[in-house]
Amino acid sequence: MELQQAGPIGVFDSGYGGLTVFKEIIKKLPQYDYVYLGDNARAPYGVRSFDTVYEYTLQCVEALFRLNCNIIVLACNTASAKALRNIQQKDLPKRKSLQRVLGVIRPTTELLGELTRSGEVGILGTQGTVSSQSYVIETQKFFPEVKVYQEACPMWVPLVENREHDSPGADYFVKRHLNNLLSQSQGIDTVLLACTHYPLLMEKIRAHTPGHIKIIPQGEIVAGSLEDYLKRHPELDALCTKGGGREFYTTESVDDFNSKANIFLGQPVNAKYLHL
Ligand code: DGL
Repeated sequence: MELQQAGPIGVFDSGYGGLTVFKEIIKKLPQYDYVYLGDNARAPYGVRSFDTVYEYTLQCVEALFRLNCNIIVLACNTASAKALRNIQQKDLPKRKSLQRVLGVIRPTTELLGELTRSGEVGILGTQGTVSSQSYVIETQKFFPEVKVYQEACPMWVPLVENREHDSPGADYFVKRHLNNLLSQSQGIDTVLLACTHYPLLMEKIRAHTPGHIKIIPQGEIVAGSLEDYLKRHPELDALCTKGGGREFYTTESVDDFNSKANIFLGQPVNAKYLHL
C-alpha cells in the first residue's frame, strides 16, 4: 500500500462560526498543524436545502483533502446535520486513503443527558439544524429519557456575521427566540447553543435567560471529543503533523475575513483566498 502523507487537521465552517470551536481545539491540542476553511462566499448555510448544504460541504471537504488534511472537523451544525452522514457513508468509502470527517452533533449529544438534572434540554440552532431533527434523534439514542425542545433562530447568524451581535437591536431577536424556546416547557434547565456562531451572542443570551438555566456552547465539548478520538485512533493521529502551524482559508474576501475572524478567535489571522 502506498505510504500516505501526513498533514494538518482541517476545520470547516460555512463562515466564521467554526472559529469558536477552532479556538477551543487549538487551546486543548496546540501541538497539531491546522487548516481552517470558511466558505464565507456561500454562508449562511442555515437556510439552504439539504442537497445544497451537502454539495457545498463536500466541495469544501475535498478542498481540505487537497490541502493534505486526513482528519476534518465539520465545526458547523448545519453541515453536520445535513451533509456528514452522506459524506461518511457515500463519499469517504470511495477514497483510497485513510481519511475521516467528524461532526459536532454526535459528541455534543453524547454528553447532553449528563448536563441536565431535570431531563429537559433546549436546543437553539439554525433552521436547517432544527428541521433536520438531528439533535432530537441523536439525543434519544444516548439518553432516551431526555426531552428535547428546539427553536430555530434564523436572525442570529446574520446578526453575528454583520457584527451586530452586541448592538441594542440584537436584544429583540435574542429575547424573542429564547422566550419561544423556554415557553415550550418550564422544566428546561439546560440550553445548548447548537450553532457555532451563537457563543458571540452569549452575553445577551445570558441576560435574557433565567439564572438557574445552564447555557452550553459546544467548543470545549468538540475539542475534548477530538482529543479522545485521536487517542483512540493512533493510526490517524500518526497522519496528523505536529508543528503548531495554523493556516486560514476563505472563499470570500481575505480582508473581510481577517478583520472579522479576530472577533471570533481572539487573535489576528492572515487568511488566503481559496477558489473552489
Ligand atoms: N455556524 C453554523 C452552524 O453551526 C451555521 C451558520 C450558517 O447558517 O451558515 O450551524
